[in-house]
Amino acid sequence: MKKIIGPFAQILPMTGLPLKGALRDEQLQILENAWVLIHKEKVVSIGKVERLKADHPSAQIEELTGQYVLLPGFIDCHTHICYAGNRAKDYAMRINGKSYLEIAESGGGIWDSVTQTRQADESTLVDLLIKRANRHLADGVTIIEVKSGYGLSVEQELKQLRAIKEASQITMANLIPTCLAAHLHPRDFGGSAEEYLYHITNYLLPILKKEELASRVDIFIEQGAFKPQTALPYLSKAKLMGFDITVHADQFTTGGSEVAVEVGAVSADHLEASKTKEIKALANSDTVAVVLPGASLGLGMHYAPARKLLDAGACLAIASDWNPGSAPMGDLLLQAAVLSAAEKLSTTEVFAALTYRAAHALRLHNRGTLATGTPAIMQAYPTDDYREILYHQGKLKPLILY
Ligand code: NIG
Ligand code: FE
Repeated sequence: MKKIIGPFAQILPMTGLPLKGALRDEQLQILENAWVLIHKEKVVSIGKVERLKADHPSAQIEELTGQYVLLPGFIDCHTHICYAGNRAKDYAMRINGKSYLEIAESGGGIWDSVTQTRQADESTLVDLLIKRANRHLADGVTIIEVKSGYGLSVEQELKQLRAIKEASQITMANLIPTCLAAHLHPRDFGGSAEEYLYHITNYLLPILKKEELASRVDIFIEQGAFKPQTALPYLSKAKLMGFDITVHADQFTTGGSEVAVEVGAVSADHLEASKTKEIKALANSDTVAVVLPGASLGLGMHYAPARKLLDAGACLAIASDWNPGSAPMGDLLLQAAVLSAAEKLSTTEVFAALTYRAAHALRLHNRGTLATGTPAIMQAYPTDDYREILYHQGKLKPLILY
């Protein structure tokens, strides 16, 4: 059944904008007093209601009361929401002065979440994941990347990735799985970091292909995790096997983004420590620069240089990094709004970073826009002025339209 839904005070289709570089609000296309024609869960046409009715006389009219601004659903291209337990203990230690890396070195941090997640069975993980995905969906986030990385053995990583696959069949949010078996060199693996990655390459990655559990591979390049020179051969091999590559890069120290660019990664994420050299290299590459303000807020540290990345010409996406350790809050819009105030990002740059540019980081090419043929999972904010969305810093809640 065809449906014509509206009216919308403003529709921001997020089309016709460049993939890379700075954006001014004058570049934002705004369709005023427009309606959307939907058929079989896809957008067919956007325009004035008289035209849509004339072209599709049999369509059912769904009239909204009130004023709304319509946007494509947001895309969170970096999360770790498949986990059990929590790390409130780490958070308390951090606000008492211990650093993230110190806590990790003393046996807490990511390893603590690995222990807690290993103890949970697959169906518990599915339930936890669905709850988190549905919370994101209610906040307008309709596509969510979800990483493994709290299993760190073939069997436990498979448990996490199978849980993600199962949850994706239940929640209305679209979950995109990524294998982060290279989150840490697990302390119970009887061998070196290189041997662990060799083991993952040979015994986990082929199963992911066969069972279609993930088509993306991630690694954490950092002190206490993996060294750039160890990561490069692993990522090169994974790429040869047909995986898209993404990297946790330059969070505390540099080195990761260079590997990401060299291997042709789809994205390099974090970048809090990136300096002029790294910013230039990312801007001159096809690798999306993904910044994670939620991790800066959770760790009480500075933001990634989002303004400089855009001015240098990079494709910038903003993601939540929602995870039990560094970024437990998981409110993407709030985080993007706070980042935009601190880094002086235009509304258009923020919406681009949450829609079509984030889609590009996930290689989802017609997503994050509203146009003929795109899926009609959309969000409508109760206002007649799109600028109110960031102004309320995450407190204006959308209506989710399917
Ligand atoms: O992106 N930095 C590495 N990994 C995650 C944190 C995971 C955790 O602390 O549990 C991140 O911040
Ligand atoms: Fe992360």
